[in-house]
Amino acid sequence: MTFDRSLKIAPSILSADFADFGREIRAIEAQGADWVHIDVMDGHFVPNLTFGPPAVKAFRPHVKTVMDVHLMISPVDAYIDAYADAGADILTAHIEAGPHIHRTLQAIRAAGMKAGVALNPGTPADAVADLMDVADMVLVMTVNPGFGGQKFIDMTAKIRRVRELIGDRDIHIQVDGGVDPVTAPLVVEAGADVLVAGSAVFRGGSVDKADVYGANMAAIRKSVAG
Ligand code: DX5
Ligand code: ZN
Repeated sequence: MTFDRSLKIAPSILSADFADFGREIRAIEAQGADWVHIDVMDGHFVPNLTFGPPAVKAFRPHVKTVMDVHLMISPVDAYIDAYADAGADILTAHIEAGPHIHRTLQAIRAAGMKAGVALNPGTPADAVADLMDVADMVLVMTVNPGFGGQKFIDMTAKIRRVRELIGDRDIHIQVDGGVDPVTAPLVVEAGADVLVAGSAVFRGGSVDKADVYGANMAAIRKSVAG
């Protein structure tokens, strides 16, 4: 993966048809998704449960772009090798998921992946100040993690502060939760370059009506460009 700060849309397959992930992934990529965002939940760190390493490994052959895996699990470290083996390009862990995020990020890189660190809405930007040399991405959550389709929480001041902390380093800022054509311009203006969107991409479409996914992504891109 080469670094660039251009706008990227990462549809979350949390809003896809759970019985048809392969076709859903191929459909969103054919419609212009830049990355594929995969939400891993453990029913412990967050009050919802999705899928684990064997499922993520099964998604891998369908992903031609970037497989972006968002871990909402605690603990993390014991599972890093399993997600490397599953083929994750980026593995993101929550700073709130354990006492040793610095070690976790180092371990993610050592396993051959890009390392992301996620911040819940209640965690301040400066919590990542001393992680800049071990992170490839900061994920600013704009909902409390666990479910798709929640209302956007305004974290633009936090995004701006993270952007300042990053300076000229090659670190992405990803925003996740309630991103749609209304909220996307706010977070991009604040400094985000990777937009995760679940409901706003999948709404109204299906694998047989995939042009709707394309139109939904185009609407997000247009909102930012305008
Ligand atoms: C929330 C997940 C998100 C979620 C976003 O815990 O991390 O990726 O799927 O869904 P929307 O875009 O519907 O808020
Ligand atoms: Zn996510």
